[in-house]
Amino acid sequence: MSLSPSKRVSSIPPYAFAALGKKIAALKAEGKDIIRLDIGNPDMPPAPHIIDALVASARRDDTHGYAGYYGIPAFRRAIADYYRSRFGVSLDDAELSPLIGSKEGLANLNLAWLDPGDIALVPDPGYVTYSKAPLLANAQIHTFDLKPENNWLPDFSSIPADVADRARLMWLNYPNNPTGALGTETVFRQAIDFCREHNILLCHDNPYSDVTFDGYRAPSILAIPGAKEVAIEFNSLSKSHNMAGWRVGMVVGNATAIKALATVKTQIDTGLPRPVQDMAIAALTGDQSWIAERNAIYRERRDMAVSALQSLGLKVSPQKATLYLWFPAPDGFSDVEFHEKVLAEAGVSIAPGSYYGENGRGWMRLSVAVPTDRMAEAMERLKSVR
Ligand SMILES: Cc1ncc(COP(=O)(O)O)c(C=O)c1O
Repeated sequence: MSLSPSKRVSSIPPYAFAALGKKIAALKAEGKDIIRLDIGNPDMPPAPHIIDALVASARRDDTHGYAGYYGIPAFRRAIADYYRSRFGVSLDDAELSPLIGSKEGLANLNLAWLDPGDIALVPDPGYVTYSKAPLLANAQIHTFDLKPENNWLPDFSSIPADVADRARLMWLNYPNNPTGALGTETVFRQAIDFCREHNILLCHDNPYSDVTFDGYRAPSILAIPGAKEVAIEFNSLSKSHNMAGWRVGMVVGNATAIKALATVKTQIDTGLPRPVQDMAIAALTGDQSWIAERNAIYRERRDMAVSALQSLGLKVSPQKATLYLWFPAPDGFSDVEFHEKVLAEAGVSIAPGSYYGENGRGWMRLSVAVPTDRMAEAMERLKSVR
């Protein structure tokens, strides 16, 4: 007898961070103190009023059953209110859906929108799910380049016409993981025009919209007139409201795409826990001033890391959004070699850029989502790396 998984599953390489997590767990089991600057997992809690809403809801007798497939009306309204007040985007009820963290939606959208052989256009470098989840739908990917000489922004004219004609989805993500690059109105407009011309669903992923510094305010692509004809936007409370473990996100925009995704989701999940929805309502509609205070802490860590890395001769500059610094590995090292050296000699883990695609080769991604004293310790330890 021989059991084997689907070809689809066998075609997907192991998630790089899962393998790295195992390696680091083994080092920790040997007693090594490893500082992980490789993952964007916010280290601080959400504001107290958000936790209070969760606890109050969990204490009720009537919040423990299935809470419905589509999100309770108050949560759906909270998503619309947040998009109106934060981005100036109005949404009607058919133009939004809650998600169990945005990654779930990013992945399930491929099942909702792609048939076998269809093409998804994905940025390189980019968040790994964009390039792997289409394979779960037996679809194909075509990568388009993000390059430093173009501020990590795409050049849509580089996408061959026959590929564009077969493409059904395109992913974009600004503020960008892993590069920290910012979107521009010009690029958003070009993306909308390109997708309209080729009948492509434009998927903008915006989970870092509220992790910004130095006065920068990240927009929604839906603020561009006409965007909803071709675009959806994913967002998440993971980074914006320090709620990564609670798994709450949303997708907003084109109603046809949202309905298709909701159809897939009714077969796969049974909605968000009610207390988590109550928590998310408090997060999205309550006081937002704590977010600026939280961002000031990230900024302090960013500045600490930038000056330490620069003093070691690394070519890094402060980014205006996201949790990440993105810089070339020092001369003579590949990104993986530098990652391994720093891990072995300093017990500090910095993500190799090639985890995010070929164009990330030779680059490093450093996260500021660790307590400030640990960031200081990590920077001190880096001085010993020779
Ligand atoms: C660009 C991007 N999109 C989506 C996600 C997924 O976020 P979540 O599933 O926690 O909402 C992440 C998480 O790191 C990310 O960096």
